[in-house]
Formats: sequence, C-alpha cells, structure tokens
Amino acid sequence: MRPDLSLDEYRPADRAALYEVCLRTGRLGADAGPEHEDRELLGHVYLGPYLELEPELAFVVRADGHPEPLGYVVGTADTLAFEAACEERWWPPLRAHYRAHPPRPGSADERVVRLIEEGIHSEGEWLAEYPAHLHVDLLEDVRGAGAGRALLDRLATALEQRGVPGLHLVVASANEGAVAFYRRLGFAVVAERPGSLVMARRLAPAAAPVVR
Ligand SMILES: CC(C)(COP(=O)(O)OP(=O)(O)OC[C@H]1O[C@@H](n2cnc3c(N)ncnc32)[C@H](O)[C@@H]1OP(=O)(O)O)[C@@H](O)C(=O)NCCC(=O)NCCS
Repeated sequence: MRPDLSLDEYRPADRAALYEVCLRTGRLGADAGPEHEDRELLGHVYLGPYLELEPELAFVVRADGHPEPLGYVVGTADTLAFEAACEERWWPPLRAHYRAHPPRPGSADERVVRLIEEGIHSEGEWLAEYPAHLHVDLLEDVRGAGAGRALLDRLATALEQRGVPGLHLVVASANEGAVAFYRRLGFAVVAERPGSLVMARRLAPAAAPVVR
C-alpha cells in the first residue's frame, strides 16, 4: 500500500466523512452528489446500517495529513441475520422520516427511498456457502494504491477469525473497474441479475472461532 496510507478501525467520529465517501463514489464509482438532493440517502442504505450494527467489521483508510478517512470497507458476517436486524432496528425510523419528508417525485432520491421502503432481502442458494457480504469505496485520490486490497484482506481476516466460510458482494455489471478488482482478488461470479452480478470468494475460517 502507498506509504502515506494506513488502515484503521472505524470510529464513530468518522461517520459523516464516510457518508460523504459513499455519496462521492455512488454512481458506478463516480460522484453521485449532483443527482441527490439528500446527501445522506445513499449512506443510509449502503453504509449506515453496517456502522451501526457491525462496527467491528468496519475499517477505514487514512492518509497522512488528512484528518478524515478517505475510504472504507464495511460488512456483515451473516447477511440474513443482518437483514433481519435492519428490519427491526434500522429501516423503521428511516421509513417514518421519509414518509413525513417525501423526496421529489421522479427524483433519484425517490428511487433510493423506495429501497428503504422495501428493505433489502437477499435470496440465493449461494448464501449458505458465502454468508458474509461487503461494500468497499475509496475516494479517487487513494485508488490504485493497494488500499482496496488491504481493506478486503483486513475484513477477510476478521471474518475468518469468526469462522465465516465465505464472502460475497453485489456489483453493478457496468462498474467494470470494480468487477476487475474483485476478480483480481479471487472473487468469481455466482449469480447474475439484471444490471448486477453477485461475486463470491471462499474464506479460510479459523478451526475454532477467535473469541475477543
Ligand atoms: C474498486 C476499488 C475499491 C478498488 O480499490 P483500489 O485501492 O483502487 O484497488 P487496489 O489498488 O488495491 O488494487 C488491487 C488489485 O486490483 C487491481 N485493480 C484495481 N482496480 C482495477 C481496475 N479498475 N481494473 C483492473 N484491475 C484493477 C489492481 O491492479 C490490483 O492488482 P495487484 O494487487 O495484483 O497489482 C476502488 O477503485 C474504488 O473504491 N472504486 C470506486 C468505488 C467502487 O466502485 N466501489 C465498488 C462498488 S461494488
């Protein structure tokens, strides 16, 4: 990894900067800021629940001279349990908020609020083999410098210590750079959906999970 970069555990003080990273990488890796009036919406779906419900599986990239983190990986060890926890604790207050403050009809915000209303419910026989999943995003200045690989290695190690057998992610098929990155890191396509791919990789879980 580039020598000015380092990995760190997530701290609650990082939250606002990471929400901004989520937005600024949210359109196939490019800045989704111009199309969203609500700058927190994408983060509420793809970042916030992980920081809230699985903070010990969130890792950030810091760069010398920058007080705020410039990228992250977040994940969960058990996708179905995580989605159930979101139904119980994460989505209800957001649904109440956006029913009281609905987005502009036809806007990009409205499409994301629809996701919040529906919730996320994964299905697939591959879930048993690859129960963990992740999201990784880096600002442009710190891409191509080994930080993405380092973040995924760090998450994989944490999952292996918990005895997790496999890890998956969902990526837009059009995000060719990210698809190439995941392939390079050993992920293979396990399912195709309209506009997206599910990619997965086996882990080498510790025989006895490490209890911390
Ligand atoms: C995708 C992303 C996380 C990759 O992180 P990164 O730090 O740029 O990648 P790394 O420098 O660690 O590269 C790791 C390996 O993947 C390869 N790789 C990375 N990006 C690649 C690309 N666009 N095309 C081809 N290969 C790529 C590298 O060559 C490297 O190979 P090596 O280690 O064998 O030399 C980062 O570019 C990013 O945040 N992009 C925008 C947001 C995004 O699309 N997130 C994914 C949403 S599903």
